[in-house]
Amino acid sequence: MFDDVRVMISAEEIDAKLAEMGAAITKDYAGKELLMVGVLKGAFMVMADLARHVDLPVEFDFMAVSSYGASTKSSGVVRILKDLDQEIADRHVLIVEDIIDSGLTLRYLMKSLSVRNPASLELAALLVKDGVERPPTKILYEGFHIPPEFVVGYGLDHVEKYRNLPFIGVLGE
Ligand code: IMP
Ligand code: MG
Repeated sequence: MFDDVRVMISAEEIDAKLAEMGAAITKDYAGKELLMVGVLKGAFMVMADLARHVDLPVEFDFMAVSSYGASTKSSGVVRILKDLDQEIADRHVLIVEDIIDSGLTLRYLMKSLSVRNPASLELAALLVKDGVERPPTKILYEGFHIPPEFVVGYGLDHVEKYRNLPFIGVLGE
């Protein structure tokens, strides 16, 4: 079904990495009330699988932002399509992202959330693209560093397709 996609990171590798990240989150947030904030749509799979490795009482919220439209290059323009349902003042907030590319989406997001005075605001991302210039970004929990290629699968899309691949892959030429 996905013959046109080359596997970069297998489902097994993803799960092993999420288990490590979940264990670190469990340790760091012990005794705190954690609110995990997923960035739609890309982060929906990471969120679901990472959360299952977090052994704490967790609450969830989601934001939807758009930075790409139908192109594969970041425009630098971020639109909030859906804001959080909850207030985050005095909450421990962990943003969960699929991938950090230009970091523009995230910078905008962190800024707009930090003025709401959370008790803490940190970031978890499954993928970080190397070889990309970006503003300094502190990623407390990061999964894999990948080369600056356009990847799909495990929540990531190309024009809304391929999100359901259980692995991270690269589209064929
Ligand atoms: P950034 O603002 O450039 O860091 O990218 C923000 C969003 O663009 C990510 O959360 C992804 O949804 C999407 N994105 C970035 N790189 C890729 C890619 O290689 N494949 C698919 N989506 C991507
Ligand atoms: Mg996206």
